[in-house]
This record gives sequence, structure tokens and C-alpha cells, in this order.
Amino acid sequence: MTTEAESKVWLITGASSGFGLAVARRVLAAGHCAALTARDPVVLAGLCAEYPDQARAFAMELRDGASVAAAVAGAESAFGRIDVLLNNAGRGLHGALEEVSEAQMEECIAVNLTGALRVIRAVLPGFRARGGGRILQVGAAAAVSNYPGFSVYGGAKAGVELACEALAAEVGPLGIRVTVVIPGPFRTDFIRRSLDRAEEPMEAYARTAGKFGALLKGMDGKQPGDPDKAAAAMVRISEEERPPFRLVLGTYATGKVKKHLEAVRGELEAWEAVGKPTEFP
Ligand SMILES: NC(=O)c1ccc[n+]([C@@H]2O[C@H](COP(=O)([O-])OP(=O)(O)OC[C@H]3O[C@@H](n4cnc5c(N)ncnc54)[C@H](OP(=O)(O)O)[C@@H]3O)[C@@H](O)[C@H]2O)c1
Repeated sequence: MTTEAESKVWLITGASSGFGLAVARRVLAAGHCAALTARDPVVLAGLCAEYPDQARAFAMELRDGASVAAAVAGAESAFGRIDVLLNNAGRGLHGALEEVSEAQMEECIAVNLTGALRVIRAVLPGFRARGGGRILQVGAAAAVSNYPGFSVYGGAKAGVELACEALAAEVGPLGIRVTVVIPGPFRTDFIRRSLDRAEEPMEAYARTAGKFGALLKGMDGKQPGDPDKAAAAMVRISEEERPPFRLVLGTYATGKVKKHLEAVRGELEAWEAVGKPTEFP
């Protein structure tokens, strides 16, 4: 159990299931306070009842600026501050770029990119006023090295990761630390519950995006990653004096990122003679 002086206040978005719920359970059991968000906060009532002095639920729809602002203000007023933001809420979209609808594409970017950045912007004034804070942004292995069928989802996650890289440089001198957590496949409800799909798959993409979509379906419930172990790693990183900017989770994602880095280096070197000499003498 933590003492009052050690107790932190977490804001956890998407706390209704998966990673968000696993981290919420851990930090509450350790004696910290947590402002928990879901689109329908009623689903968080059970957890709040278990920890009546430590947990509060707030409605948050990432696509709605007023809802994000109200949830962050509610959390700050309930607990007096936020120390750690776990910016976890997200929604997937599967389908080749040409297969997904314009509305699906816009929603995916609105949730995973604009919405995530919106939450960060909302907590920054409080972090700056208190001279510090922690941001854990949940990214995705697909943002580092993507798959056919994940162009929009992986692209939105890559956008938030790169935005966080600039953010880390902007807010580091203000005492605010930023880490992007990069999970591979973890056994949450994501594939079943939070993954939208293109409504009219096209034959032209059956061998690429279609194949990957089938693989995702088959993987549901068998993903190697344990969300509770991921939660333990996230909590551990939140306590580090000098946390890494990226934390890759799981054996699969670790291998994938290493392979990607080698491929980028190999391609850079193979084409350097064409790309490099493009400057004024
Ligand atoms: N599981 C994996 O293999 C995996 C891999 C890489 C990255 N991720 C990322 O991990 C994060 C958490 O996913 P998960 O695996 O834990 O899946 P999950 O159990 O389905 O959780 C998704 C969470 O996001 C919330 N959410 C979805 N759309 C939202 C919106 N428009 N506004 C506000 N909240 C919204 C959901 O809350 P509601 O109750 O409101 O629906 C839910 O709590 C996501 O960002 C996901 O992209 C997961």
C-alpha cells in the first residue's frame, strides 16, 4: 500500500476494458487514485464501488472536445491534480485504404490521432502549473512497421507516436516525461470489440488486406500478450526517473521493431548514392 505522500493520481482513458482496465486495477490496488474514463461511465461503476475513496468515473468521447475537457476538469477537481496520464483509449480499423469508407477513415483518425492529442493538450496546463507529469501514450507495433489492411489505423497511431516525439522535446524541460508504449498483439477484447472493418471488401485486396484480416480474426483469444503483464510494465515505467521514449511490449513486437530498424538501415545504405547528393554544392 502507498502512503499519502507516494500516492499518485492517474487519468486512464479507455478504462472499461483491456489495457486500461488492467492498469486501473493495478494502480488502485497499489493505493493510488484514478480518474477512469469510458464513453459510458456506468460500466465503471463496479470498480469505483470497490475503491470509493480512490476511483471516480467520467464520460469521455475522444471525438468530442467538450467531453474531453469536461472529463479532465472533473478529474482535476475530484483529486486536486493529475500526475500520470495513461492515454490508452483507441479504436482499430481494418480494410485496405481503398476499401474503407471515408467516414471510417475520418473516425479512425479522429479517435486515434486527434482525440489522443486532444487529451494530452487538456492535461498540459495542469502539468505545467505543477512543474511535472507523466504521459504514457499507447501506440501500436503497426505504427512502426505496418501491415496491409491497417493503413489508416497504423497511420493514425504512427501520427500520434511522432507527435509525442516532438512533444517530449517540448515538455521535457518543463519536467514532463513522455513514453509511447508499443504493444504487439495482446489478449484484450480489441479484435472483437474495438476493431471496425471495411463493409465491402474488394477481390483485388483479398491476398493482402483480406489475408491479414483473416489472420486477425483467427488470432482473437490466442494473442500471446498478457494485458496484466503489460499493465505492470506501464506502471513500472511511470515510476522511472528517466523513462524511455519508446517501450516496446512483447516478444513479437520486439522482434518486429528490430527487424524494421535493420530494414530501414539496409534500404538507406542501398539507396544513399541516389538520395544523399541532392544538396547545393
Ligand atoms: N490489444 C492489442 O493487441 C493492441 C495492440 C496494439 C495497440 N493496442 C491499443 O491499445 C489500446 C487499448 O486497446 P485494448 O486492446 O485494451 O482494447 P479494448 O479492450 O477494446 O479497449 C479499447 C478502449 O478504448 C475506448 N474507446 C474506444 N473508442 C473510444 C472513443 N471514441 N472515445 C473514448 N474511448 C474510446 C473503449 O471504451 P468504451 O467502453 O467507451 O468503448 C475501451 O475502453 C488502444 O489504443 C489500441 O489501439 C492494442
